[in-house]
Amino acid sequence: MNQSLYIAVKKSQINFYKDFDLFFRTQKNEYELYKPAGRTLSEIRINEGRHPTLFIHHNDRISALKSLQKSFNLQLEKNIAGGNIAEVKSILCALVGEAMSEPRSGTLQILPETIDILVSKYSKQPDVIKRLASISSKDYTTIIHSVNVMALIIGFCFYRHYSLAETNSFGLTALLHDVGKTQIPDEILTARRKLTYYEFRIMKAHTIIGREIILESEGIDDSVAVGAIEHHEKLDGSGYPGGIMDISYIGKLLGIIDCYEALTNEDRPYRRAKQPLDTLGLIKEDIQSGKLDEKMFKQFCYSMIEKNK
Ligand SMILES: [Fe+2]
Ligand SMILES: [Fe+2]
Repeated sequence: MNQSLYIAVKKSQINFYKDFDLFFRTQKNEYELYKPAGRTLSEIRINEGRHPTLFIHHNDRISALKSLQKSFNLQLEKNIAGGNIAEVKSILCALVGEAMSEPRSGTLQILPETIDILVSKYSKQPDVIKRLASISSKDYTTIIHSVNVMALIIGFCFYRHYSLAETNSFGLTALLHDVGKTQIPDEILTARRKLTYYEFRIMKAHTIIGREIILESEGIDDSVAVGAIEHHEKLDGSGYPGGIMDISYIGKLLGIIDCYEALTNEDRPYRRAKQPLDTLGLIKEDIQSGKLDEKMFKQFCYSMIEKNK
């Protein structure tokens, strides 16, 4: 049998595969049925690791991914209710990571529901959502950056008393602003050095690719694509990909929050992570030179310090 037809399942997620056939690999490197769809593996066997590495069939991968995401959303609700913010962040990152692993296969569809859960649950405790962004992680990835930018934008929307519908829409736009990076080669994305001119050209394409992915995705409103295409544009026309000066509200807001988040959290050898106040100073330079919107920047600063009741 063709080995690439089977995909290994993470041990921590095996319980979520009740509705799918699970296979194991024999010594002859063949795959045989281990558990038929509809049956569960005993908890004890899973906890004690008393089962071989299990696999799902390639044909099941998208429906398995969707069912996994539903379970993540349920866990998310439980942990928000329980006030466990570190766990909320880790479930969110796992969920967004799974969604972005195959963004062209319909796996983004679950995310509006995820944002809806976050916005409706945290609207009663608006300061907590911003704390999600300050929980640091070992590795800094596009997923973590996207979750942080989303948390900061939702915090901003609460501070500005935007409606829940607007907050949902801005939160989703923020979460997907860099979805195009999923298609950029890893050696460019994670290069621990300055990119060459040609590599940077490829990197810049994440804006256009992101818009394409969002427009292709069923269940994601087309307006969300504006964030992907405009978040690197600058008011003086020096940004990319279009060099446009007439940037939408969400495009300008994302530009500010994206810079802030990347500068406070990114930790690369050639550019150490900055303290929040130093970062605001750096962004200020971009404001004085007319690249970013000053009024919006001030509002963002206030949203970061204001205690919302
Ligand atoms: Fe970006
Ligand atoms: Fe970004």
